[in-house]
Amino acid sequence: MNVKWIKFLVFLICLLPLLRLVLLGLFDGLGPNPVSHLIHSTGVWSLVLLLVTLSITPLRRLFEVSQILRLRRMFGQYAFFYGLLHFLIYAWFDQYFEWQGIWRDIMSRPFILVGFISLFFLVPMSVTSTNRWVRRLGVRWWRRIHWLIYPSAFLAVLHFWLEVKRDIREPLIYAILLGILFLYRIGYAFLCGRTKPLLNSNQDCAGVQR
Ligand code: HEM
Repeated sequence: MNVKWIKFLVFLICLLPLLRLVLLGLFDGLGPNPVSHLIHSTGVWSLVLLLVTLSITPLRRLFEVSQILRLRRMFGQYAFFYGLLHFLIYAWFDQYFEWQGIWRDIMSRPFILVGFISLFFLVPMSVTSTNRWVRRLGVRWWRRIHWLIYPSAFLAVLHFWLEVKRDIREPLIYAILLGILFLYRIGYAFLCGRTKPLLNSNQDCAGVQR
């Protein structure tokens, strides 16, 4: 299938969680605590999409499917979209857009502060995700900014962990997945650093042509 079609299909698939929430909202299916349901669902989807974004490079290297890189930006933008929606639902239905109250909440509840910083880190990445910004900033600076996805994902998992009071099973699963992705990156950087002189200049660490 043509890459454009795959991108379009992925674009539609990523909209499904939102469509599901809209339909549940319209047909009274959000349960006894609709706001909590909306916050939960958007928060989890944002986290899942962050992890998917982080998995793209390892998957490309492991399976040598370079086309998959063309989906990374979309997954990242959707992670930000669901994170922003999560925040807006909280600000609207939980705080009635009372900004002083929101600020007090951020400053007094550590899990809200951690979520806020996680979302804050996603903003520059989302803004600079276009090719125009890569040209404007130069690849080096662009990469530095996009490295923020690591602390952002870590803080998102911590936010989840701090939010659940007793049953930590769900955030633990995300923490393990994130840990695997971090370890892969560290391991790759370590091996790559060692084998770099052996590589042809237009190959990456796995020997894949750039
Ligand atoms: C300003 C930023 C944020 C605020 C104010 C915020 C607020 C909240 C609140 C109030 C809850 C509790 C929901 C409930 O139980 O009713 C929550 C849960 C959660 N948030 Fe956030 N959040 C923020 C950022 C983020 C980000 C960036 C992510 C992911 C990337 C995220 C992921 C989650 C997850 C996974 C949960 C747990 C869902 C659950 O089990 O209920 N949050 N957040």
